[in-house]
Amino acid sequence: MKSFLDLAKSRYSCRSYSEQVVPKDTIMNVLEAARIAPSATNAQPWRFVILTQPEVRHEVASCYSGEWLKSAPVIIVACGNHSESWRRADGKDHCDIDLAIGIDHITLAAAEHGLGTCWICKFDAMRCAEMLKLPKGVAPIALIPLGVPAEKNNYSERHLVRKSMDEIVTWEGYNF
Ligand SMILES: Cc1cc2nc3c(=O)[nH]c(=O)nc-3n(C[C@H](O)[C@H](O)[C@H](O)COP(=O)(O)O)c2cc1C
Repeated sequence: MKSFLDLAKSRYSCRSYSEQVVPKDTIMNVLEAARIAPSATNAQPWRFVILTQPEVRHEVASCYSGEWLKSAPVIIVACGNHSESWRRADGKDHCDIDLAIGIDHITLAAAEHGLGTCWICKFDAMRCAEMLKLPKGVAPIALIPLGVPAEKNNYSERHLVRKSMDEIVTWEGYNF
């Protein structure tokens, strides 16, 4: 069994998929990882819209500029219900934080199955919400393609670029 760190390191943004169908029980297993994720006040404000049928999948994919998204056999539209999420006393809405946790569980669970994913936030969220007829207060936070990677090691160069520990960690105070 892979250690958690090995699993986390095996995840990368996959931007090319094979046509291979992802079985429904595998999709459900990946979604289970999101279902059990933590959220502020346990509000669980996530809603996941699973698109497998080519017509709607391609329509939603057109909200994003990258044509490659159409190659994914599954698109998970991760939505946040802002009327359910916790707001701190200063007004900060924790919906996006909760969604990020759930989505990251999805990407890691998918990696465990040898499946590729990619976070997509640079899409036309308003158009996507209209297409899916999302109710008021529910926003699409990210599009997550899911599928068998088209070829091995198809990660971008950016995947290998990470700041050093010294650049991101200080001890006993903020000393950058
Ligand atoms: C919140 C978030 C939004 C992102 N949005 C996009 C996007 O719109 N399009 C895209 O191709 N990649 C997107 N990415 C992927 C990042 O570019 C990628 O995670 C980063 O370059 C590191 O590469 P890696 O995921 O392969 O390790 C996004 C990632 C995150 C976490």
